[in-house]
Amino acid sequence: MCAVKARPSYGYAFVTLHRFTSRGPLTGRIRVPGDKSISHRALMFGALAVGRSRISGLLEGEDVLATAAALRAMGASIEKDGDDWIVDGVGVGTLLQPEGALDMGNSGTSTRLLMGLVASHGITATFTGDASLSKRPMGRVIDPLSTMGASFTPSPGGTLPLVMEGMQPAVPISYRLPVASAQVKSAVLLAGLNTPGTTTVIEPVPTRDHTERMLRGFGVEVRVEETDGERIIKVTGPCDLEPCDITVPGDPSSAAFFAVAASIVPVSDLVIENVGLNPTRDGIYRVLEQMGADIQYIDRREVGGEPVADLRVRHAQLKGIEVDPEIAPSMIDEFPVLFVAAAMAQGTTVTSGLEELRVKESDRLAAMAAALKLAGAAVEERDDGLVIQGSGGKPLAGGGPVTTHLDHRIAMSMAVAGLASAEGVEIDSTEPIATSFPNFMDLIEEASA
Ligand code: S3P
Repeated sequence: MCAVKARPSYGYAFVTLHRFTSRGPLTGRIRVPGDKSISHRALMFGALAVGRSRISGLLEGEDVLATAAALRAMGASIEKDGDDWIVDGVGVGTLLQPEGALDMGNSGTSTRLLMGLVASHGITATFTGDASLSKRPMGRVIDPLSTMGASFTPSPGGTLPLVMEGMQPAVPISYRLPVASAQVKSAVLLAGLNTPGTTTVIEPVPTRDHTERMLRGFGVEVRVEETDGERIIKVTGPCDLEPCDITVPGDPSSAAFFAVAASIVPVSDLVIENVGLNPTRDGIYRVLEQMGADIQYIDRREVGGEPVADLRVRHAQLKGIEVDPEIAPSMIDEFPVLFVAAAMAQGTTVTSGLEELRVKESDRLAAMAAALKLAGAAVEERDDGLVIQGSGGKPLAGGGPVTTHLDHRIAMSMAVAGLASAEGVEIDSTEPIATSFPNFMDLIEEASA
């Protein structure tokens, strides 16, 4: 692995071209940083509680730090204390008017969830973001939050930058999610915390449930009913949040890069400690097992109200499969790295039902199809998925530079492809990795030392 050169570019002061090359088996024990989704929510709910919450294992990635900065701008005190973080909350209903624009960087989760909070407070906030975030659809949160009383300029259905004005008191709604999105679900529920009456979200397809789980930890009564496969989630506001001490488990999305790397690099035998295995997040591990991956779950336990285990992953010859589209919500962020696994499998992998991947930090179907082709894989891009002919375990030729489009998961997925390639895979910029996995490169060094 060697850094090649820095050059001026988009969004960042400079970008670092980097070639990831084969370094031999991944072995030993590593621990990935805290879960990004849980870290955002721990800070937000701590900021809404009256009193002091302590968070251990918080992900200190740029996305989560953007959430922290925005919450500070709205009155919360958030400080590091040794390895922990301490949040002194302002209470529901008393968020302050931020003085400047809230810079969300690359983070869709920060933006959409914080819009939910602002929606039911009598404050005005300007949201800005980087070039990637400024292309992402905000209409999906603007629609329900407008119905609750918030107003948005310049255009409803728009993209960042935008200014929103919350409504206090807001109007409770019953909202059926038109897209399977935990961000939209959470935005409406968070708005509901300061809305008199019952706010209801109906999820036709279950998505990650960290908001529901953690709100209960902060003393909020969240009612969940399941009927005919749908989840109906209710909160009755205004709610008081009690401070809570939280331990954030390791991020299953970050661990997935190493699980795939250990599966495709011969002779690997790697333990990834403390990986969150919430059933709304563990789809990648179930699919890898269907493909023949050798994954052992050691010491299953609970951390911070979430199921966790240490994963031992050993190299195995994967086989191509048809991935059931119903599993997509539980591994929505892991498809880029699954495509890398598929490129090294024996036979064909077919994925479908993945239109949502086109509106992530990049269009992940187009970006991964282009990147994998550049690295020598046989890929067909369809409207709603990729079809990949695997190499049968033969290293990919390699190549590049791959365009990462400011997308951390494209960068890390193609880094993993590089570890299993003949010539290495060059990516155009390593900077986006810091949004979710600041020590990714160090852990590659550690696992392949
Ligand atoms: C997230 C939900 C998902 C996921 C994102 C984090 C969350 O987005 O892709 O990385 O923390 O709620 P969608 O809700 O848009 O599917």
